[in-house]
Amino acid sequence: MPLETLTTIPELRERLLPARRAGKSVGLVPTMGYLHRGHAALVDRARADNDVVVTSVFVNPLQFGPNEDFARYPRDLDADRRLLAAHGADIVFAPSVEEMYPRPIVTHVEVESLSGRMEGERRPGHFRGVATVVGKLFNIAQPDRAYFGEKDYQQLQVIRRMVADLSFPLEIVGVPTVRDVDGVALSSRNVYLSPAERAAAPVLGRSLAAAADAIAAGAVDPRDIEAAIRGVLAAEPLAEPDLVAVAAADTLEPVDPKAPPPAIALMIAVRIGHTRLIDQRVVAVP
Ligand code: PAJ
Repeated sequence: MPLETLTTIPELRERLLPARRAGKSVGLVPTMGYLHRGHAALVDRARADNDVVVTSVFVNPLQFGPNEDFARYPRDLDADRRLLAAHGADIVFAPSVEEMYPRPIVTHVEVESLSGRMEGERRPGHFRGVATVVGKLFNIAQPDRAYFGEKDYQQLQVIRRMVADLSFPLEIVGVPTVRDVDGVALSSRNVYLSPAERAAAPVLGRSLAAAADAIAAGAVDPRDIEAAIRGVLAAEPLAEPDLVAVAAADTLEPVDPKAPPPAIALMIAVRIGHTRLIDQRVVAVP
C-alpha cells in the first residue's frame, strides 16, 4: 500500500475509523520531521507491532521558547515521505499550525515536577508544549501504541507519566537511541553543525561513557558522576555544557548515594557553536 499523506484532523479520523472498527491495531510515531535513521527505528518498531502505522510530522510551536529555533527548524516533507514509504508506514499526518491550533490554545497538559526539572529548567514551558501536543495527537489518532526515542529521555518519562495520570488507553514504547558510526546520536539538528563542530560532537557520548565507567567502578554520588562527565566535556574547546543531569532512571528523582537506585539516567545538553545537542545513557548500578 502506498503511503498516504493527510493534512486535516477529520481526514485522519475518517481514515482510521474503519480500521479500528475492523479490530486493527494502530501505532503512532509522533515526529517533527526532517527524518533520519533514529526516527526510522521507531517506524520499524511500530510496523512490527501494529496493523496500521501513522507517523505525524508537525513542528510544534508550543514547545519552542522565544529564543529557540522554531522558524529555522529544518523541514523537508518530500524527503520524509520517501523515508516513511521505504520503512512501510501507511499514513503521514502533516497538519498545518492553523489545523492544529486554529485559535490560541488555552488548555495545556502540565506534568508537574517532572517537567520543571533538568531540561525543563533550561527550557521553561518546553515539556508543557510537548505533553499538550502529544496528548492532542493521541486524541486525534487514538493509537493502541505510541513510540518515543530514549534519546529524549526526560520527554519519554514525561509522556509515560501523562499517560498513567490521565489514563490514556494506549501503550508507550521506548526505543533505544540510534547513533552514527562515531557514536553521535542522530538528530535533525545535526545539520546545523559545521564540519569542525560535527568533528567535536562525539565528546557527548565520550563524556557519558566516562560516567558509565565511574558507575561501574562503584561511583554512586551524583557529584562524582557529574564531575566525570564535565571533565571530558571540558577537554573539548568547542563544547559548552548547558545541562548535566544525573537522576534515578525510572523516576528521575535525584540520586541518593546512601540508597542508590537500580539504574541511573545520565542526561546532557551541550552547545557546540550555536547548536544545542542532547544525549542520554541509562547505566545499571552494580
Ligand atoms: P523529534 O525530535 O522529531 O523526535 C521524534 C521522535 O524520534 C522522538 O520520540 C525522539 O526521541 C525520537 N528520536 C530522535 N532521534 C532519535 C535517535 N537518534 N534514536 C532514536 N530515537 C530518536 O521529539 C520530538 O520530535 C517532539 O518533541 C514530539 C514528541 C514529536 C512532540 O512534538
